[in-house]
Amino acid sequence: MRKPFIAGNWKMHKTVSQALELIEELLRLVAGEDEVRIAIAPPFTSLYPVAQRLKGSNVELSAQDCFWEDEGAYTGEISPLMLAEVGCTYCIVGHSERRHIFGEGNEEVLRKARALLEHGISPIVCVGETLPEREKGQAMETVKHQLHGSLKGITKEEMTRVVIAYEPVWAIGTGKTATPQQAQEMHAFIRDWLGQAFGGDIASSCSILYGGSVKPTNIQGLMAMEDIDGALVGGASLDAASFAQIIKGGKR
Ligand code: PGA
Repeated sequence: MRKPFIAGNWKMHKTVSQALELIEELLRLVAGEDEVRIAIAPPFTSLYPVAQRLKGSNVELSAQDCFWEDEGAYTGEISPLMLAEVGCTYCIVGHSERRHIFGEGNEEVLRKARALLEHGISPIVCVGETLPEREKGQAMETVKHQLHGSLKGITKEEMTRVVIAYEPVWAIGTGKTATPQQAQEMHAFIRDWLGQAFGGDIASSCSILYGGSVKPTNIQGLMAMEDIDGALVGGASLDAASFAQIIKGGKR
């Protein structure tokens, strides 16, 4: 009942011309692929031109971050209102690079998620523990704290439009993927938490993606796990062939 969902986070990669080239090849490789929900998150500069090319295709558009106000004196920021008009249906919030490099906390993540929901954009809310937290046996405590803080006050109706991404920080861009069992354990924990916070219907319908060094070679093992509904892919989404392979490997 949960359709597999594969999203590519390009991070700070690709100029407009490079983005258009990549998208051209990707659309060719995944044409007609309807068993998997597909989204890509290019940098802000490429959102508009990419959106024009994605019209009528099976690939949706995501942003990588946003601010929570509609407009105002916030130099350098981009609002959900702007993202909605461009055609974004998703926006990543609370990515570990935002949390760790730019010092974002759960409160900011929550404000962004709320603002996105108001504009009809689905937030992809990222959570995940660091290596020291895992080694100290605090992985679940950390993720629970992030979920609680990043989703506080979100209504059940809003939750039907929220996607969760579990991305252990030690697995992002390191080539070290969590084993399917490690990921499944955390996904089941997250689903259980969602059940307690929002009820069983939300828990069983919410898509929980895994992120952290997902590649064509490990996607099938991850997708074989009951509570893993897809992937948030960084590095491997920058190459159309490898991202297309991950999308095909994401089918159940
Ligand atoms: P990675 O990044 O696939 O390059 O590890 C994942 C992410 O940060 O979303």
